Amino acid sequence: MPLSSSALPAYAKLNLTLAVLGKRPDGYHDLASIFQTISLHDTLRIEPSHDGTLTCAVNVSALQSPDNLVLQAADVLRREIGDSTLGARIDLRKSIPVQGGLGGGSSDAAVVLLALNQLWGASFSAPRLETIGARLGSDVPFFVGGGTARISGRGQVVQPLPDIEPLWFVLAKPPVAISTADIFRRLAPRDYSSAHATEVVERALLRHEPLPMDHLANSLEDVVLAAYPEVQATRDALRASGAPLVRMSGSGPTLYVPFRSRADAAQVWRRAQARELNVWLCRAISRDEYRASILGSL
Ligand code: C5P
Repeated sequence: MPLSSSALPAYAKLNLTLAVLGKRPDGYHDLASIFQTISLHDTLRIEPSHDGTLTCAVNVSALQSPDNLVLQAADVLRREIGDSTLGARIDLRKSIPVQGGLGGGSSDAAVVLLALNQLWGASFSAPRLETIGARLGSDVPFFVGGGTARISGRGQVVQPLPDIEPLWFVLAKPPVAISTADIFRRLAPRDYSSAHATEVVERALLRHEPLPMDHLANSLEDVVLAAYPEVQATRDALRASGAPLVRMSGSGPTLYVPFRSRADAAQVWRRAQARELNVWLCRAISRDEYRASILGSL
């Protein structure tokens, strides 16, 4: 067994669209969404062992607990392999805001599945890792492959799409943490929408056309804006910084502004920083870059 992996990036995602179609008999909601991986990332180092112990050191004390999704991912994979002597020491450096709507925890979990699948010599296929990932959380299967994808079901059905054009994003995190379960609980049937915007974006991507920015939409946005004045204030400050279009990712609260030009993005990023917003400048990560930067580092 190799001594340890080198630094593995666990990239964040944005929801270019997110339509909540309705409630399912199992209590979850049916979604139609376009997911996109971006360059903002956590970093993992993983050292496999044969002593049967799983440990995870995190630089965020709130995540230092046995129900950390990273440890759950390692445990679920080990059970699937059926060898209780397998172990791993995992070091996780968080950079993606926690409970920010950027899929950070799900991404960390998927990278652990991808890495230990190799380091433990399991060689499970990507679809099998997606099935295992779906048990950990609705967003985990997407992060097995990353890039641009159409998401349906409760989030676990992933259909890869052609790469998006090179896009830049300014992200801003309002000073609140939001529980996904809480936002879905607040949702009323009037907040449900059709899959139309998602289908328009999907069709454009399948035809290799530019992203139709006017169809970026999120069914959860109004609910979050109404419940959290901090999110409204951050949106107003982004608009005042010159952002032409502001959207929310996932169940929030992180907001993003898409750009075709890095220079335009950098200008809004600088102005938003001057207003003391918590902001990042990042770019879209394609499926090839996603897979190569994780699997190529093992
Ligand atoms: O699957 P995950 O653990 O990420 O979801 C967190 C919570 O968000 C769920 O417990 C559920 O309350 C809600 N959810 C939902 N419909 C989805 C995804 C999540 O209602 N499609």
